[in-house]
Amino acid sequence: MALFGKNKKAAETLPLEDIILPKHVGIIMDGNGRWAKKRGLPRKVGHREGAKVFREITRYASKVGIKHLTVYAFSTENWKRPEDEVGALMKLFQSYLEEALTDFKDDDIVVRFIGDRTGFSPGLQKLMDENEEIAKDRDGMVLNIAMNYGSRDEIVRAVKIICAEVKSGRIDESEIDAKLVSDHLYTAGQPDPDLIIRPSGEYRISNFLLWQSAYTEFVIMNKLWPDFQKSDFDEALRIYSQRNRRYGGV
Ligand code: FPP
Repeated sequence: MALFGKNKKAAETLPLEDIILPKHVGIIMDGNGRWAKKRGLPRKVGHREGAKVFREITRYASKVGIKHLTVYAFSTENWKRPEDEVGALMKLFQSYLEEALTDFKDDDIVVRFIGDRTGFSPGLQKLMDENEEIAKDRDGMVLNIAMNYGSRDEIVRAVKIICAEVKSGRIDESEIDAKLVSDHLYTAGQPDPDLIIRPSGEYRISNFLLWQSAYTEFVIMNKLWPDFQKSDFDEALRIYSQRNRRYGGV
């Protein structure tokens, strides 16, 4: 059940074909650990189930017509987790990124990675490069997989690049504006997310797309990510469609 306000009834009954689709959806794939704990299983089993849901929902998002999907797979802070959990996640990334080379081809999905990939093993970095290369001429949904991603890091990185460009004379300080900053983020050239979905009932942004989410609609759902289904995605889309976006206007 989603947590949302007065438009609950209307949102539940709205046919999917009548809704205004968001162009860009972000998902914080949260709750894998709690899902496993509830079943007395190791956390890594929760991540394994979460990875299956990632693949299913990615394909579904592309089918319903989402143009950009950004999933938060591993944050700059997730390295603090116990070694065996980080190791299990790296193995999962390895196997899913191997599969993704062929897996997303039929859906024409363009795979991209946002975050600092130099933090990963050479093997994983190679797989990330290969996935981007093999998918670069596809023209379907753009899937951004956020790995070793942190929004503050992303903004600091952009500031440093802009400073270097000013210093070298490539740009003038007077040219710095919001668009220029956006153009120096990992998501450069892509629209800002219209909707961010966070399963697991947590009301936090957790260092995800901070700059890009200035006017994003948030939908918090009380489901753990491994339990998240296509119907939950539909529900989030319906809720989004009922929102009145004003961008600071009236
Ligand atoms: C947060 O849940 C989830 C993660 C840190 C990992 C997300 C990764 C996947 C779903 C794997 C699939 C991704 C790809 C790209 C193959 P949590 O562990 O913080 O859950 P908790 O809050 O219940 O502890």
